[in-house]
Amino acid sequence: MRIDILSLFPNMFQATMGESIIGKAQDNGFVDINVTDFRQYTTDKHNHVDDAPFGGGAGMLLQAQPIFDAMDAIQQQTEGQYSKGRVILMDPAGRKFDQAYAKELAQEDHLTFICGHYEGYDERIRQLVTDEASLGDYVLTGGELAAMVMIDATVRFVPGVLGNMSSPMGDSFSNGLLEYPQYTRPADFRGMKVPEVLTSGNHQKIKEWRMRESLRRTLHRRPDLLKTAKLSREQQLMLEDIKLDEDPTVPD
Ligand SMILES: C[S@@+](CC[C@H](N)C(=O)[O-])C[C@H]1O[C@@H](n2cnc3c(N)ncnc32)[C@H](O)[C@@H]1O
Repeated sequence: MRIDILSLFPNMFQATMGESIIGKAQDNGFVDINVTDFRQYTTDKHNHVDDAPFGGGAGMLLQAQPIFDAMDAIQQQTEGQYSKGRVILMDPAGRKFDQAYAKELAQEDHLTFICGHYEGYDERIRQLVTDEASLGDYVLTGGELAAMVMIDATVRFVPGVLGNMSSPMGDSFSNGLLEYPQYTRPADFRGMKVPEVLTSGNHQKIKEWRMRESLRRTLHRRPDLLKTAKLSREQQLMLEDIKLDEDPTVPD
């Protein structure tokens, strides 16, 4: 997968994109991340990429010209090797990012993220994009942090990146539920004991316990997820059972 990022602050990406799993994913050739400082494409003699809004108002807007020219350059560089893929405008008014969105983006061979700054965009920039994406209902100073989060969550789903595709699928949200509690050695730490079933060696019982705890945690912490989670008959019965024998006001 190729990922292009259009940003006025390319250095912001060095630390996060070069380290850990994303760094390794690049080293191993699973993803190729390229950051373009679109200021280099401005035709303004003072190197400006923003201007005041027509009709007046506070703040400055990113101009269309540098972004259109940067996109043309990326198109020329990638033509024949990658599709245009998805072009994602970072915007608090966009589609809210979640795990399903990450999985969807991971199917593409090419993603381009446009990171805004200042008060917003010249509206014509939206002609270039397939997606407008938001990290959440708050306003950041720029699209860079939001793009980094989206790239991190998406790259986890690119086959081979985690080495074992069962890992992202078992993560919270991937199956519509929160992840079950987990423990590692020692089995008794300061009197806090690991649930016996996990050290029993009985794989069927462990599987059932995990399913039950995943349902219980989701019911207690994020009951909204249960409205859309696709539960098997076994999970539905388990959930009914949990509701009967648990006081849902008790936090787990
Ligand atoms: C200061 S914000 C502009 C906010 C704009 N005036 C508004 O009210 O929608 C500058 C840029 O940061 C990025 N940004 C801010 N909040 C974001 C969010 N929640 N999700 C994604 N991008 C965001 C966008 O690229 C945005 O154009």
